[in-house]
Amino acid sequence: MSEPQMNEGEERSLEATLRPASLGEYIGQGEAKRSLTTLLQAARERGEAADHLLLHGPPGLGKTTLAAIVAHELGVQIRFTSGTAIDHGGDLAAILTNLLPRQVLFIDEIHRLGRAVEEVLYPAMEDRSIDIVIGKGPSAQPLRLEVPPFTLIGATTRIGMLSAPLRDRFGAVQRLDFYADDELTAIVQRSAGILGVSVTGEAAALIAARSRGTPRIANRLLRRVRDEVQVAGSSEITLERAAKALAGLQIDDAGLDATDRKLLQMMLDKFDGGPVGVAAMAALLGESPDTLEDVFEPFLLRIGFLDRTPQGRVVTERGRTHLGRGSASLWSGS
Ligand SMILES: Nc1ncnc2c1ncn2[C@@H]1O[C@H](COP(=O)(O)OP(=O)(O)OP(=O)(O)O)[C@@H](O)[C@H]1O
Ligand SMILES: [Mg+2]
Repeated sequence: MSEPQMNEGEERSLEATLRPASLGEYIGQGEAKRSLTTLLQAARERGEAADHLLLHGPPGLGKTTLAAIVAHELGVQIRFTSGTAIDHGGDLAAILTNLLPRQVLFIDEIHRLGRAVEEVLYPAMEDRSIDIVIGKGPSAQPLRLEVPPFTLIGATTRIGMLSAPLRDRFGAVQRLDFYADDELTAIVQRSAGILGVSVTGEAAALIAARSRGTPRIANRLLRRVRDEVQVAGSSEITLERAAKALAGLQIDDAGLDATDRKLLQMMLDKFDGGPVGVAAMAALLGESPDTLEDVFEPFLLRIGFLDRTPQGRVVTERGRTHLGRGSASLWSGS
């Protein structure tokens, strides 16, 4: 989002405070919870590590949270790493051979793992072994190492970028989807409780409705609204105060922020609404194409303000109307 960024450490520690710790506290995603419950129960009954699990879906929907919950429910530790943090096969080999039995290894942005690193991962996932080469040149020797039983949880916003052999090695693949408004309302109320601020049901519902189906954004907006309300000398978030604070943040009734509106507007002004390629759209915003596809686009597609065509993205009639640029007036004269 285009809001002024909190520093990353602050943001992360706040996220950690608001993170549900058990499946029971995790709101929404009924289908994911049901399949995880089965996966966890099977693992417990067999007394083995749970199947490898791939979680995918847009940012901020609770992938990292779910991974931590799986470890918690299994009563094991979780080791966090990411596809961008592992440069060499040897780095991954070191992580794998140092895992405790049945531990969860979480690899965020798993689609970013390099080829050579993936190749260390395959046999580890399948046969709990890795093949490494010791030494260099003529004295180099292959060595097979055993890896303790473990559960790999991979997370990605881009399942399409995952190689097929890697994807096929996960026993379970679970997609997380945007949340319904009532689920987000419950999340806002739960978070308000943890933050020690009182929020009326109507105000929670309003914040939820502006959150793009995304818990991370709901929590962010809640904190911003809380700050505004507090600065105004009040201690309760009412509907009126929430509406005022959200207007101050330039979030409109569809949940669009200034950046989203700028994107749609520029697509209309410069490309007559499209089709526009992803790279050109990213350039309009001064963002990377990845950020555009991960962060901005999924929501605009979901609410039907953008559409995908083979030539690129187009602003829909609905998107135009939202910006007050509908074409209805053009038709009325013909
Ligand atoms: N089901 C839920 N119930 C309550 N809070 C949730 C839920 N899912 C996510 N959250 C909150 O949303 C925040 C973001 O979730 P999380 O970090 O797990 O998302 P993510 O999918 O891993 O995002 P990214 O793709 O950016 O890594 C967390 O701090 C957590 O408090
Ligand atoms: Mg995450």
